[in-house]
Amino acid sequence: MSSHREVLILPGDGIGPEVVSQAVRLLRDAAQACDMELDIRQEAVGGAAIEADGQPLPEATLAAARGADAVLLGAVGGPRWEGLPMHERPERGLLGLRSGLDLFANLRPAILFAPLADASSLKAELVANLDILIVRELTGGIYFGEPRGIEQTPTGRRGVNSYVYTEHEIERIARIGFDMARKRSGRLCSVDKANVLEVTQLWRDVIGEVAADYADVELSHMYVDNAGMQLVRAPKQFDVIVTGNMFGDILSDVAAMLTGSVGMLPSASLAADGRGLYEPVHGSAPDIAGQNVANPLATMLSVGMMFRYSFAEREIADRIDAAVLSVLESGLRTADIISGVADRQTLVGTDAMADAVLSAFAEEAVEAEEAQVAQERDR
Ligand code: IPM
Ligand code: MG
Repeated sequence: MSSHREVLILPGDGIGPEVVSQAVRLLRDAAQACDMELDIRQEAVGGAAIEADGQPLPEATLAAARGADAVLLGAVGGPRWEGLPMHERPERGLLGLRSGLDLFANLRPAILFAPLADASSLKAELVANLDILIVRELTGGIYFGEPRGIEQTPTGRRGVNSYVYTEHEIERIARIGFDMARKRSGRLCSVDKANVLEVTQLWRDVIGEVAADYADVELSHMYVDNAGMQLVRAPKQFDVIVTGNMFGDILSDVAAMLTGSVGMLPSASLAADGRGLYEPVHGSAPDIAGQNVANPLATMLSVGMMFRYSFAEREIADRIDAAVLSVLESGLRTADIISGVADRQTLVGTDAMADAVLSAFAEEAVEAEEAQVAQERDR
């Protein structure tokens, strides 16, 4: 049965356009593999939108995102726009999409692909088989709390941000965390700063209340400073981590590095109805933009997450993950994941890495078909 999906592409800034254009090739192949009819549109966001339209999130972009089944975004930001006032910066484009589409649940898996064990900054045995999922609340907390701003006072300037969570916001992200833990190892660690901040005391209380509905999940609580330390001391103690917006931002960068490179981490930002925005966790990396050296794997893996979470095409998603693994096993490396340790590694650029994933994906399909034929024959 053929299905029809509309995907909005937002390349953004820096390396965004080059990694996204490679990922779109995979998107097309993956759609074809499951007989999905794709309608791909493209709009501007971030610095690119500021240049074209004078604002980081034009009305047309938000409207197109609202109308799409899924959004694939590259990255936003760069030195060119750093002098702008906060509400005009490229980052506001991304934050506006998150809140405008109510993408409250951000899933950031940190998985170590075995061939990259020696690219991690930690010892290989500490990260072997690492597979953590960070569930980050994405539309609340100190990122969005009011009041905010910088004001003049008689004794000098004063800067304010407000760390706010309602019970409802905590409860809905808690349920995502528990549901994910239930599908995995059954362990959930909630990260807060309940020894100092009232808002995270409420966080801890509400998480504890929701736990009553998940007797099969083992819940633990950890202060964020300890969690940062534990992530680099013994990361494999974690399975699913649920935390607020700012702590999730910080801890997911730490977790990313454990896997060898921030260039490897995909993410999904989901609304309650399953619609989602998919983006690599890495930023726009303006220093390497346009040189064909950026790692396209995080964006390609984000396409995998799109098939898993928005399109319920688990088999395709698994096939994308397997294709990436086999390319890494073959020794191909972009500059960010070359370790210099093993000599079977071959340094490649963005496009060659993507080419290899595409052919591995096609091979996975052939193998899956052959396996099925063999299974039917043996029956
Ligand atoms: C991220 C980024 C964003 C964030 C920025 C670009 C607004 O760091 O997605 O982790 O802080 O959430
Ligand atoms: Mg971040």
